[in-house]
Amino acid sequence: MKKFFLQQYDLILFGAKGDLSGRKLIPALYELEKKSLLHKNTRIIGVGRAHWSNEKYIEYTFNTLKNFCINPIDMQIWKKFQSKLLFCNLDVTNISHFYTLKKVLIQNNNTKIYYFAVPPHTFGNICKGIGEIKLHYYPNRIVVEKPIGTSFKSSQKINNQLNLYFQENQIFRIDHYLGKETVLNLLILRFSNPIFYYQWNHNYIKYIKIFVSEKIGIEGRWKYFNSIGQTRDMVQNHLLQILSLLTMSIPKSLDATNIQSEKIKLLKSLRKINLKTINTNTIRGQYNSGIIDNQCVPSYTKELFSEINSQTETFVAIKTFIDNETWKNVPIYLKTGKRMFEKTSKIVICFKQLPYNLFQNYKHQNKLIIQLQPNEGITIQFFNKNPEISSKYNTKKSNLYFNYCDILKENIPDAYERLFLEIMNNDQSLFISKKEIEISWKWIDSIIQSWKINNTPLILYKSGIKDIKFNDEYDV
Ligand code: BG6
Repeated sequence: MKKFFLQQYDLILFGAKGDLSGRKLIPALYELEKKSLLHKNTRIIGVGRAHWSNEKYIEYTFNTLKNFCINPIDMQIWKKFQSKLLFCNLDVTNISHFYTLKKVLIQNNNTKIYYFAVPPHTFGNICKGIGEIKLHYYPNRIVVEKPIGTSFKSSQKINNQLNLYFQENQIFRIDHYLGKETVLNLLILRFSNPIFYYQWNHNYIKYIKIFVSEKIGIEGRWKYFNSIGQTRDMVQNHLLQILSLLTMSIPKSLDATNIQSEKIKLLKSLRKINLKTINTNTIRGQYNSGIIDNQCVPSYTKELFSEINSQTETFVAIKTFIDNETWKNVPIYLKTGKRMFEKTSKIVICFKQLPYNLFQNYKHQNKLIIQLQPNEGITIQFFNKNPEISSKYNTKKSNLYFNYCDILKENIPDAYERLFLEIMNNDQSLFISKKEIEISWKWIDSIIQSWKINNTPLILYKSGIKDIKFNDEYDV
């Protein structure tokens, strides 16, 4: 992996006043400042339609940090950070406005990083504007957030708009899950530990489950969410990316091209859900009212800005297989939902039982549980002798547990901190290639289409439930 060298950049944030900038981007940049990972000549240029002065933007940013940073703001750090902030008034639908931005950008020779924290329908205009002022050439780069489309077709359209002005090596497509320490650790866990490396295939693994549940509902995003649903919001990107890293073959190196090419092969091998399997291999649900953390929560159709009728799923479970030699006949479960019992993202790898077991009364089965968030850690479930004098060969299920808290003095860095560093370092290995986006959309499209043709019903589930299981599903 490339070493990080501190260089100076202009970070241009389109959507400076938006939710993503406030919640994630600005706090992540502030944390990098704290860790002395922003060059003193780096500038952060907020862009938006507001007629703001730099002072107003600085004030806004300070309040944002107060709201969204976990720790109180350190005024020494803030002083350094605020000196990097500028604001540029710009309406992306007006090409001539980009000349105002140009005036700011040509004040130095910093590499430009354009961050599109805005809805995808504006991507085309922004690219055009940057092209108009001729500041789109390498090494300048762009960062785009999901959703990159809502289907294969619409994702192609967006990618084509980007490619009109930018080459693939200038495009960083973000999936914030790839910036999570625990997701990144999958590569190290798999490829640097012989005990796991040799067992990572259908000979030893019985099933794999990726489970992402959230307590929150739609959080005021009803309109957006209702048009896409949980499958497109979470599975197309986050769950398929986790699955790819978890099951791809070992890449030749840690270079972006090699990692992405292995992920592409894996995604291509993922068995499509079709009309024959849609009812047995998927579950779609929508939350009803219920109780979470002792509080009553409304049903999906009674949320803020909702409409009475909606067939959009807020829970999805998919059972599939990977059709290659390594993973033949290993069921893969992808499950994710909103308004569930707890916020948790975890991977469960269940190993096969022994063909012959001396302790025949026991169904010994080892599990590796990777807790991606919260309480990041890894558990290995194994069997031990029950340490009692009365028991000679009684076995007892035990856990070997590794917790990130035990080795970290501070909080685990937020995914966006890692991703900003990678962008600055010009390393695309934690970003998604165009091909991956296209293949995963095709896979998702076949599910959505099959649901439509089959009129697959929604299961209404009570908010606060732990899970919805397939009839033949193994226990976690
Ligand atoms: C986003 C989805 O990509 O990920 C949200 O749009 C979801 O609906 C969020 O809540 C979950 O992210 P995390 O990091 O909190 O698991």
